[in-house]
Amino acid sequence: MQAGLARDFLEAVPMPLMLVGTDQRVLAANRAVSDLFGVAIEGRSCSAFLRHPAFLTGLEECLSGQGKRSARITLSGNTQDTHLSVTYAPVEHEGGPSVLVALEDLTALEQAVAMRRDFVANVSHELRTPLTALVGFIETLRGAARDDPNARDRFLGIMEREAGRMIRLVNDLLSLSRVEAEERRRPAKAVDILALLRTALVTQQEAAKAGGIALTLTADSDVVNLPGDADQLTQVFHNLLENAMKYGGSGKDVTVRVSEIEREPVLKGPAVQVEVIDRGEGIDPLHLPRLTERFYRVDTHRSREQGGTGLGLAIVKHIVNRHRGRLRIDSELGKGSRFIVILPKG
Ligand SMILES: Nc1ncnc2c1ncn2[C@@H]1O[C@H](COP(=O)(O)OP(=O)(O)OP(=O)(O)O)[C@@H](O)[C@H]1O
Ligand SMILES: [Mg+2]
Repeated sequence: MQAGLARDFLEAVPMPLMLVGTDQRVLAANRAVSDLFGVAIEGRSCSAFLRHPAFLTGLEECLSGQGKRSARITLSGNTQDTHLSVTYAPVEHEGGPSVLVALEDLTALEQAVAMRRDFVANVSHELRTPLTALVGFIETLRGAARDDPNARDRFLGIMEREAGRMIRLVNDLLSLSRVEAEERRRPAKAVDILALLRTALVTQQEAAKAGGIALTLTADSDVVNLPGDADQLTQVFHNLLENAMKYGGSGKDVTVRVSEIEREPVLKGPAVQVEVIDRGEGIDPLHLPRLTERFYRVDTHRSREQGGTGLGLAIVKHIVNRHRGRLRIDSELGKGSRFIVILPKG
């Protein structure tokens, strides 16, 4: 094949491809390869931009006439590793032998596999803790505490709490997978977000009173309509209000502020902003990027103690995504947190 034609062929394929000659120099490469390595590589020797032993071995073997070869290599980067699957195929180029090298970036796939593995491990771990407690108390009730009515009552109370935790976890998991399944379908029904928030506040009022917290709502208007799923939005604000009260600390007030934005820069249109503000301990900026991940908690022990599953904000994020909205978190250690939900109006 001629050089110009070869380049046209390579350029027509979306995956990274390059043609390498007998001296290991790159004869032609498509743009996907330069994007992958961040430099132009035509005319350069392979070892100059990809000094990976397994990569060079496969190339040498194929160049020396051993037929098709393949290799799996991992390149370590500053922020993340890149996993590549490489295949080498002997081809004839301008009358001489050369090798067509195809690189497939498996990083996203590997990340998805790792995420699924972590998820299963997390769920198993979260379920195992209460189950172990239950089994332990059943044993005690059958043995040592058999004829002790006081101990029995106490242990049954703990068992009820642990079973409740498992039910909450399963419910949260189901609700997360439901929201994920629906995420592409944008809700269309009109919802009065202010009425919805008022109801949510009434429901939380008792818990607030118990913690000595004044829970208040402020808004510029009386009715604010937007397309939404009322049940899911209710879930969002219950989650945020619960968090604000739980982590905001007793005796510290929680405020919900609703305002309308004429043109939200990111959503590029009119939007409604709901802020849930607490004056609690705040969150270290270190944790902010990971806060909406499933099972991520700043203080796992404390969250569990309070019956949390660590799925609340993950559910919030997915529901907000389904509404094509934004979730922002402003927080300062020692001063409090502000969870901002921005929802498009049309
Ligand atoms: N208002 C807040 N102030 C300080 N930390 C917060 C606040 N909201 C959330 N967090 C932190 O973020 C973590 C994740 O919150 P998320 O709602 O996802 O889980 P959770 O509250 O622990 O459990 P669940 O919501 O299932 O009851 C919490 O464990 C807590 O560490
Ligand atoms: Mg929560």
